[in-house]
Amino acid sequence: MNIDADGNVTPCCNWKSHNNADNPYCGNVKEQTLEQIWNGEVYRKIRRDMASGDLRESGCAKCMIIVRGEPSKFRYDEDVEAELTAREGPSSPYAKNMALLKQEVAAGAEVMEAKPTVLSVTPSYACNIRCVHCYQEPLRTKDLNQPSLFEQISDLAPVLSHISCGGGEPFLLPIWKDFIDQVDLDENPYLTFAACTNATLLTPGMVERIEKFKRVQIGISMDAGTKEVYENVRIKSKFETVDKNAERLVQITKSRPGSYVSMSMAVMRNNIEDVANFFIYSASRGATSGLSPVMAMPSDQAITCFNDPQKELPRWRAALDRAIEAVKTIDYVKHHISLDEEGVRRNYFAQIKFVRDQIPWEIEARHHIYIEGELPASLLERPTTKLDELIVIFSPAAASPAAAPLYFSKIDGARFSVFLPPGSYRIGIIKRFDWPKYNLSWQVKISANGLALFERTLGGSIQNDIINDAEPISSASAEGYAPIYAFQENTNTWVSAEAGSNVANCSYIGIRLNGEEKPPLKEVRVQWAFDYCTPVKVALQYSDDGNVWSTDAIHKPGLKDATKTFWWEAITAKSGVPHCYWRLLALANGSGHMAVGQIQFIKR
Ligand SMILES: C[S@@+](CC[C@H](N)C(=O)[O-])C[C@H]1O[C@@H](n2cnc3c(N)ncnc32)[C@H](O)[C@@H]1O
Ligand code: SF4
Repeated sequence: MNIDADGNVTPCCNWKSHNNADNPYCGNVKEQTLEQIWNGEVYRKIRRDMASGDLRESGCAKCMIIVRGEPSKFRYDEDVEAELTAREGPSSPYAKNMALLKQEVAAGAEVMEAKPTVLSVTPSYACNIRCVHCYQEPLRTKDLNQPSLFEQISDLAPVLSHISCGGGEPFLLPIWKDFIDQVDLDENPYLTFAACTNATLLTPGMVERIEKFKRVQIGISMDAGTKEVYENVRIKSKFETVDKNAERLVQITKSRPGSYVSMSMAVMRNNIEDVANFFIYSASRGATSGLSPVMAMPSDQAITCFNDPQKELPRWRAALDRAIEAVKTIDYVKHHISLDEEGVRRNYFAQIKFVRDQIPWEIEARHHIYIEGELPASLLERPTTKLDELIVIFSPAAASPAAAPLYFSKIDGARFSVFLPPGSYRIGIIKRFDWPKYNLSWQVKISANGLALFERTLGGSIQNDIINDAEPISSASAEGYAPIYAFQENTNTWVSAEAGSNVANCSYIGIRLNGEEKPPLKEVRVQWAFDYCTPVKVALQYSDDGNVWSTDAIHKPGLKDATKTFWWEAITAKSGVPHCYWRLLALANGSGHMAVGQIQFIKR
């Protein structure tokens, strides 16, 4: 079970990653116990689908491990087999639970009596350094703060195979020091200690704590193979410190069978040319190497997004070729990585190929023109954000509005510069750590002579009858979905209210009218975004004080084709009189989300 700093539970850390975003959460530890979640509806469905061999239906088919064809073994301490096969039967709580777990898995059980044995918990995103790509950056202050969860984890400690201490930076978080100090390793000697760390904070006290475990599995995020590139990605960290700590951690793992240090590299714009050095460096330290691509966010680091692709792509291709050559020549036996050198190489080649496969090489063949200019002032309206934290993203207009951007530019004052092929593009002005989204009421046309023409569009046409003098309101609380971000150009609402478990049946998106004169509403035009985040039923409601709401109309969104995305609908208002507030309220919605592409409140 994987628990994030919001309390959301997933079966693994890849479950909601970029290509798996549609997978549902299994529950939330702020509302349910681990036991309830473990045998809740989502876990039961995963087990059912897995038992029938349907990985697509279970939500696992796009997992990086499956796509790369890597083995994914049952994670447990095989030393327990001695207890399991002993004539008198298993005696420790760990062995008893493991016997039950194996039995139930073999029988394809949907409901498990056996308790979960692999836990990965992120209690907080607090961190001591600032990496250029870290998706946690806007969430730094998030803290799970659930003492009852830690009691439940302590209760599970006797049967756990694996505890993965997450962060932020796990070695910064007192909660993990406390957990290690409390855990009774005489009662459960099978417990593996795991952590993914920036390795900047390895105190003697922490070394002593880690050394208590029989098996230690540490992931060190290096993101580079050289000091220069390292310090250009992992801001505020010193390569020498991490190098020394990595050596110490490798020493600890050497004397513990089944233990290892693996080093990882999130491959991005700032480091892709250092991939070969990363393989060389990690091997030289006796650590295995793992690559994962930075996709979509932050767009200015993603390997799918370009500023000058005709310059960037040939360099990236050469860098990945160099990485292949490096892997071919590294002596993995000498560095004690593995006796199966060919197996290691096959795995690393597959990882490099996976990174290579994410890069849209085909755009290199297109003719790109250098465009520089000033962004229209009304496009730049983003309260509270300094301009230098903003980037502008571009995606071909013909692509889906949900597509990741293909081009970006930093914004200097209001100026931007980028190489683009002639054509029409969706554009978005976003903070670096915003999930990419476009301002659907604007497009830019790039002509063959390099001119950029910014145009307003709204559902294909300019609308004059939209209620502009209004403030957004929504039930969304998560940063990035809050009303201030929800409303753009006073005419568009982006992804907004959350429904489902957090605010069951009462998620809404709406407006509070400003000004003396409040025009009566004619209709609400909604662009629903995806079938899974479109409610089954909505109520159009009005209020005069924002507290007491009356229903004006009930509407069932008319999704005909489950594969369709971004379709428009108009909901006609019956009340002909002015009101101060209008909103769309999601009514009982099985999928748990209401999100819209755009929403326009049209006056009579
Ligand atoms: C968020 S960190 C937390 C643990 C620890 N602080 C560390 O750096 O290892 C976990 C991993 O996520 C990776 N990561 C952060 N932002 C990413 C992004 N936008 N895309 C891909 N990986 C990312 C980091 O490089 C690191 O390996
Ligand atoms: S060390 Fe980890 S959590 Fe901290 S900024 Fe870097 S990637 Fe993010």
